[in-house]
Amino acid sequence: MPAAAQRPEHSQPPVLALEGIHKTFGGVVALQSFDLEIEAGEVVALVGDNGAGKSTVVKIIAGMLHPTSGRLRLDGADITFADPSESQARGIQVVYQDLALADGQPVYMNMFLGRERVIGPLRRLDRRGMIAETAELVQALDVRIPSVRARVRDLSGGQRQGVAIARATHWARKLVLMDEPTAALGVAETARVEANIRSLKERNLAILLISHSLDQVFRLSDRICVLRRGVQVGVRRTNATSNNEIVSMITGLS
Ligand SMILES: Nc1ncnc2c1ncn2[C@@H]1O[C@H](COP(=O)(O)OP(=O)(O)OP(=O)(O)O)[C@@H](O)[C@H]1O
Ligand SMILES: [Mg+2]
Repeated sequence: MPAAAQRPEHSQPPVLALEGIHKTFGGVVALQSFDLEIEAGEVVALVGDNGAGKSTVVKIIAGMLHPTSGRLRLDGADITFADPSESQARGIQVVYQDLALADGQPVYMNMFLGRERVIGPLRRLDRRGMIAETAELVQALDVRIPSVRARVRDLSGGQRQGVAIARATHWARKLVLMDEPTAALGVAETARVEANIRSLKERNLAILLISHSLDQVFRLSDRICVLRRGVQVGVRRTNATSNNEIVSMITGLS
């Protein structure tokens, strides 16, 4: 199916377009001829079994990995990101599967990692300002942590995930990539993250969601992209497919 047939007609180019992305690690082919477009205000789910290549897609978009070949376009313009700071500067935020938080630092420093606030001629860290803003944010998102001064290494897995999601939500301007954002979360926390994803969509951000929970994928996504062993086996509109169809696309069995 041509890429244009996978999405409704828009006059704007998609926020993100991946074209013919290949990625190999030594002899391992992680991704082959991968194409995907994501529109503003759209949640696209990326599903597939372990090792299918999902996190590799996220890391390539984020600039953490470089494709072996293929093109990325942001708002219609070709881009290459040398590293994640360049994708962040373009409004892209990522919740990585392995979280990428600074364990020894308090929550508020993690929230401002790479964008630390400074004050005065000596450019001292504005800890008070960062603490206040972080406290406001974790309260607004209902992230339940003992204190924004707590070190990340002293938080539970679910609390760390909450911090990573709050950080991405706060800084995203264009696109949010979430790699298994609720894998470590309980029922109530998962519901809060899902509400958060809906509000990002209402803010007209584009969202790429990786999840092994098909129920969650069906609750949140507009389209579902299925990867099997590095190959895209299809993209479906969520309201025009079924759990059974997606499962057979993931496994290759029908
Ligand atoms: N840095 C790396 N070096 C070598 N091989 C890698 C590297 N990163 C990923 N791979 C390989 O690429 C393939 C795709 O991995 P990837 O992490 O993208 O899978 P995934 O779909 O995210 O899986 P999961 O659901 O388990 O998170 C796997 O075969 C993996 O072993
Ligand atoms: Mg992964």
